[in-house]
Amino acid sequence: MLVLIGFDQVVDAGQVVPSRPADRDLHSLGNPEQIRVSRVELDLSVDFAKKELQGTATLAFRRMPGCPSGIPLDLDTRELKIERVAAGVTDEALTEVRFELGHEGADPVRPESDLKRERLLGTRLRIFVPDDATRVRVTYRTAPTASALQWLDPPRTAGRKQPFLFTQSEAIHARSWIPLQDSPGVRITYAATIRVPEGLRAVMSADQLPGREGQSDARFEMTQPIPPYLIALAVGDLAFRSLSPRTGTYAEPSVVAAAASEFVDTEAMIKAVETRFGPYRWGRYDLLVLPPSFPFGGMENPKLTFATPTILAGDRSLVSLVAHELAHSWSGNLVTNATWRDFWLNEGFTVYLERRIVEDVFGPDRAAMEAVLGLRELREELAAFPPRDQVLHIDLADRDPDEGMTRIPYEKGALFLTTIEHAFGRERFDAFLRAYFDHFAFQSITTADFERYLQAQLLDSDPAAAAKLNVQAWLHEPGLPPGFPEPTSTRFAVVTTAARDWLEGKIPAEQLATRDWSTHEWLHFLQALPLELPPEKMAALDKEFALTGTGNSEITQQWLLMAIRNHYAPADARLESFLTSIGRRKFLMPLYGELKKTAEGTTRAKAIYAKARPFYHPIAVESVDRLLGTK
Ligand code: BES
Ligand code: ZN
Repeated sequence: MLVLIGFDQVVDAGQVVPSRPADRDLHSLGNPEQIRVSRVELDLSVDFAKKELQGTATLAFRRMPGCPSGIPLDLDTRELKIERVAAGVTDEALTEVRFELGHEGADPVRPESDLKRERLLGTRLRIFVPDDATRVRVTYRTAPTASALQWLDPPRTAGRKQPFLFTQSEAIHARSWIPLQDSPGVRITYAATIRVPEGLRAVMSADQLPGREGQSDARFEMTQPIPPYLIALAVGDLAFRSLSPRTGTYAEPSVVAAAASEFVDTEAMIKAVETRFGPYRWGRYDLLVLPPSFPFGGMENPKLTFATPTILAGDRSLVSLVAHELAHSWSGNLVTNATWRDFWLNEGFTVYLERRIVEDVFGPDRAAMEAVLGLRELREELAAFPPRDQVLHIDLADRDPDEGMTRIPYEKGALFLTTIEHAFGRERFDAFLRAYFDHFAFQSITTADFERYLQAQLLDSDPAAAAKLNVQAWLHEPGLPPGFPEPTSTRFAVVTTAARDWLEGKIPAEQLATRDWSTHEWLHFLQALPLELPPEKMAALDKEFALTGTGNSEITQQWLLMAIRNHYAPADARLESFLTSIGRRKFLMPLYGELKKTAEGTTRAKAIYAKARPFYHPIAVESVDRLLGTK
């Protein structure tokens, strides 16, 4: 059944097919406009010795209306070793078919532009499927260097006895472990059978099916159509703690108690979003705490958020990350950016929802402090990036989508939505958002789709309020349009005064009223100090508050930045231990970046990095290599 919506889109059973070239996904080599994959069934063995996944991916697909006969099926791959491909109508009747991987058999002298494209996007797998075929089975193995996979030897885990594997598919890494149409506009359901060594447990971004008698393999099913970047797998020595009937946390046994205590508010967070923006549609919501080399803070894999252990502060002060990944269950997983140009639709909406959750669950003070810190980061990023990268609807042609992963889509996106909220009032904006999630549920949409919907559902209803908004500037122009509501925090105002008084010598460190300060107030305090701080001031703070020894990762990072800048030697060892034990890119990049500012710092950065590199995830390695020029 085909339905025409707007002027340029065809919806076929929940799939949105952009027909305007501007809306095409430039980061996939697949051909979903002609033949579209709708389901993936994996049967994979996890081989820790070889650092390899081996097995099959069986894909169900269908020809789009008007697709001429003889058209092959094009998939994305990266470094996959393809052994065999079979196609047919049923699994019982698959016959081997011809396939082409990349430029096999093509001109041996290939232009540099080709090679660059391959480095960026991987290798196209072209399968010559018969016209009547609806299924194809690819037998393959992954490369040990697969960009989505991190294989950890036992010493890199908390328990030190068992190895660990986890995937990170966003943005375009799913293709390095599964041959598929790796575009967020191509939604698929999936099933998986995962064969793991004795004693290890596999978890995925899906429902786990009950075990089969006498079989040790784990089976999973995701019945809702998701974009491929949300397929996720982790294997390790994992324990589980329940948090509520539908929430819980997985972590290594020695970490799971801390995780369960940190995440107690998860159910309350889900209820907060449900009340305002509609039901949680994914059944369970669990959190998996990964080993410290996980390159991100969190990843919103459906039903199972992946999280860095660096948010386990002990005082629940960093759980806005949980709010964030949970919010993606609406913005991102339910309504998805159709291309990586539209990434702000995922992240800007999510930061907006994150702050609303924090406000509901922890109060407006905390939400305000996080908004102030967020805007500060945004201003720093705007100052650091060229105009073309400051645009929400960013041009990513010939670029790695990772390059669009700055604070800009997050914070500028959220600020745009806050500005709309202020123009129309919270009540109307909440109703708009709720309807938006219903309207586009399980679809992948572009910025243009959002603009049309905003115009029709909100702006047209109140031209006076709409006149206050410059949508064009917010979405398509660099910088920050004037007239947005600047967040302020009264608690921060108190801290700012304290910082000034201490700096001017009016009060000594021991008299600072820090007893009730949250992580946020500490961060604000440190950020309120001048970039250059004399050694005795650094020492006085450290003596009074033991900042070099703090266990809070955010405060540690802020303190270490100051230590590098001010050549504060007593923190040297901590800097090295931090950089060699934590692989979260958000922490690494500013610290290496700060070191790189001086010749002596650069030498140190390279020495530390030489030790740390084997421990980092391929995604972090890529970034740090680029920063330090160590590739
Ligand atoms: N989806 C992102 C992580 C991501 C984005 C991975 C793009 C790969 C490519 C996730 O939801 C996220 O934004 N994580 C943040 C934490 C959040 C609290 C801002 C992070 O990891 O820093
Ligand atoms: Zn996010």
